[in-house]
Amino acid sequence: MTTASAPGKVYLFGEHAVVYGEPAVPSAISRRARVTAERRADSRLRVHAEDLSLDGFTVEYSGETDSTPDVDVSPGLVRAAMGYVDAAVSQAREATDAPEAGFDITIESEIPLGAGLGSSAAVVVAGIEAATRELGVELGTEEIADRAYRAEHEVQEGQASRADTFCSATGGAVRVEGEDCRAIEAPDLPFVIGFDGGAGDTGELVAGVRELRERYPFAASTVETIGDLVRQGERALAEGDLEELGTLMDFNHGLLSSLGVSSRSLDRMVWAARDAGAHGAKLTGAGGGGCIVALDPTDGTESALGFTPGCEEGFRAELDDEGVRVE
Ligand code: MEV
Repeated sequence: MTTASAPGKVYLFGEHAVVYGEPAVPSAISRRARVTAERRADSRLRVHAEDLSLDGFTVEYSGETDSTPDVDVSPGLVRAAMGYVDAAVSQAREATDAPEAGFDITIESEIPLGAGLGSSAAVVVAGIEAATRELGVELGTEEIADRAYRAEHEVQEGQASRADTFCSATGGAVRVEGEDCRAIEAPDLPFVIGFDGGAGDTGELVAGVRELRERYPFAASTVETIGDLVRQGERALAEGDLEELGTLMDFNHGLLSSLGVSSRSLDRMVWAARDAGAHGAKLTGAGGGGCIVALDPTDGTESALGFTPGCEEGFRAELDDEGVRVE
């Protein structure tokens, strides 16, 4: 039996635009998904998932990946997670030249599903590491990141960048532009996260931006403007200029809103953070619901989120320098 874990992440800048080749800067956070793989005698895949939401709510799902999960809450999300596990195991089988390998897989995650904190990437990355190690093969981080990207790409029907999976595999802050993925230096960043208890459908949200981009030249320009903003943000990050980073995060949120991927609850949480004195705040990930990230070294944002309508939980998150690891 082998357990591996990988971190979730927040986007400082650049989600959505990164799908069109613009740069993005995600940063791993100290919330992890853990995947345990145990080799079976047959070639079947059995998946058990629990704690797939922040508040400790337990999804009891135990069955074959092609059966319908018997859960009361968010069965669609649980089914989506099973798709990612399937794709991760396919990659592990291919990497180890063991097409018939079967596994019992258990997922435990501190990252809410579909909420913009990179839960699917963390599950895929940890899943590939757990399953390949269980078969006695040690892949390098770059290969895990590449295979995890291919798995996400397949599940999201060709609409994925390398940002989520690379960040989850390597940990730390990273810069992704097309195929070019690398670690970058980052100061201590006082992240505060607000979670509305909901989730967005990444595939639909990415498709929505694609449509806008094809329909309106100014939407295409908005995507390019996000790229310019990210390049400016990289300079602020290198200089450790939190105020400038915050201003650019506010700007990035506005541009994402104009691309139609924010929501009332995300906007409320962003404004609560700004009113509480955060340097800046924006939605993180695909949007539509889920999480915002603010930069605030004081307790202001965290306590304000406690009183913000629509916010289920506000919490601080540290940058996590460690990527995928065997537990
Ligand atoms: C989703 O976490 C981030 C998006 O940019 C999609 C992707 O990069 O694959 C919306």
